[in-house]
Amino acid sequence: MPDDSTPEMNEARKKLAERERLAEAGGGAERAARQHSEGKYTARERLERLLDPGSFVELDKLKTHRCSDFGMAEKKVPGDGVVTGWGTIENRTIYVFSQDFTVFGGSLGLAHAEKICKIMDLAMENGAPVIGLNDSGGARIQEGVDSLGGYAEIFLRNTLASGVVPQLSAILGPCAGGAVYSPAITDFIMMVEKTAYMFVTGPDVIKTVTHEEITKEDLGGAMAHAAKSGVAHLTAPDEDEAFLMLRELVGFLPSNNLEDPPLRLTSDPVDRKDPALAAIVPLNANKPYDIKELVRRVVDEGVFFEIHEHYAQNIVVGFARFGGASAGIVANQPAHLAGCLDIHSSKKAARFVRFCDAFNIPLVTFVDVPGFLPGSEQEHGGIIKDGAKLLYAYAEATVPKVSVIVRKAYGGAYDVMSSKHIRGDVNLAFPTAEIAVMGPEGAVNIVFRQELLAAADPARCREELVSNYRATFANPYQAAERGYIDAVIFPEDTRRQVIQALRMLQNKRQKNPARKHGNIPL
Ligand code: HXC
Repeated sequence: MPDDSTPEMNEARKKLAERERLAEAGGGAERAARQHSEGKYTARERLERLLDPGSFVELDKLKTHRCSDFGMAEKKVPGDGVVTGWGTIENRTIYVFSQDFTVFGGSLGLAHAEKICKIMDLAMENGAPVIGLNDSGGARIQEGVDSLGGYAEIFLRNTLASGVVPQLSAILGPCAGGAVYSPAITDFIMMVEKTAYMFVTGPDVIKTVTHEEITKEDLGGAMAHAAKSGVAHLTAPDEDEAFLMLRELVGFLPSNNLEDPPLRLTSDPVDRKDPALAAIVPLNANKPYDIKELVRRVVDEGVFFEIHEHYAQNIVVGFARFGGASAGIVANQPAHLAGCLDIHSSKKAARFVRFCDAFNIPLVTFVDVPGFLPGSEQEHGGIIKDGAKLLYAYAEATVPKVSVIVRKAYGGAYDVMSSKHIRGDVNLAFPTAEIAVMGPEGAVNIVFRQELLAAADPARCREELVSNYRATFANPYQAAERGYIDAVIFPEDTRRQVIQALRMLQNKRQKNPARKHGNIPL
């Protein structure tokens, strides 16, 4: 056994300890204090909070840049402004990088990029998620094209990892210029309110080019991206909350595309009846209500982890569990725009459906949809191609697909929302559901125009025709008689029915035709 108390060994230990101390000090106490004064943690403090305590294992702690331009040879900080490695969340392996704003503003040069690429490669080889904590001034100006190349190496890996391992991004400070495109390719973006911002060109450039004046926060703050652009899927009031939410999100996801999501024990009975469900959904097809109330009452322990809460609120998407198993929920929201499908809601739901399909997460769809939003703004904005995205996403999805029509399913939106015709596996409907080409008023206006014009009492005539139409179409039975609806269920049994369906489908295997890839209407 070598004697480790020799002077040589002591000297070697000291050297290593000094290098490690320098790496851990990052840009120094003063810059760390500035981070804290802005309500931000340092790169290492963030990893401590994100990962299980004591689980972080660092890689490339001593790596430095190799740039000598602009006096950079004298400015080397071990770690080069990004802390990388792996750790666990609820004992499952997660690869992480955490940019250190105290070192060259967290800017990305070649060595910094190589460190991120290394953990991405490991994540792909070992089938585990990647979480990136972004806080960076972007491309390191002193490293020129090496920085740009470094970014592109990361973008390439983001793209190749898409649909193979879950990729999550937290934006905890600046994220500007081309740097935004790495998070943009990942599956979910979390932004912290007030401290995070993302934009391709900042307020100064905008002012010069277009004379528009706008603040950083209004241009690219958390709420701008959560509510307006849809770039951010999640927001948190502070970093502590952001890390808790990321941990919760990981709990719904498998580690890679070959695994199933983890099961979570639940004490919520799988056959729990809920008599309140019938009352939540109003009989009047035009009356708004909050579909999230229904979702929460049906899923395990009322826990619904919503994605894109502030964006395209006419559709609701998120994760929940049924009998302990993860599911992706998609639900029309009658409380906003009557729950219609439009450009934004179609894109939001399509991306979510594709994520779930890529990662073996069954889809449970609650349908209450009056159709697509009419208007030239929608038509000229491309609702034809964007509505088709959702249709395409559901049609190509091979995960178990269970749907419940809780009130109305009209027109093309009936087809789109996980219908039997596009390989819905189990399609359920409440007894009060209406399935038709359009609502009664619109239908009567078109089909009986002549009769209405000729009628002595048009109001009375319309009433009769509407009532007749309702009796024929405003129910789930035509669809049930054709097998398009597998069962008409009592609302109070929704939870049991959905769980039974998901359990019946748990070994589902379905394959799409062999091809390089489809051509989703982008
Ligand atoms: C090198 C950088 C840097 C960068 C910041 N720093 N950004 N060093 N390259 N891109 C350094 C600063 O010199 C400073 O060093 C320290 O980081 C902190 O920066 P401050 O400006 O003091 O901080 P703050 O006032 O908080 O402002 C933060 C900031 C600002 C808004 C991010 O630094 C900034 O505008 N940086 C440039 C952003 C940018 O244009 N990046 C390029 C985007 S284009 P000292 O030593 O003084 O502490 C891009 C292309 C990617 O990224 C292309 C991919 C295809």
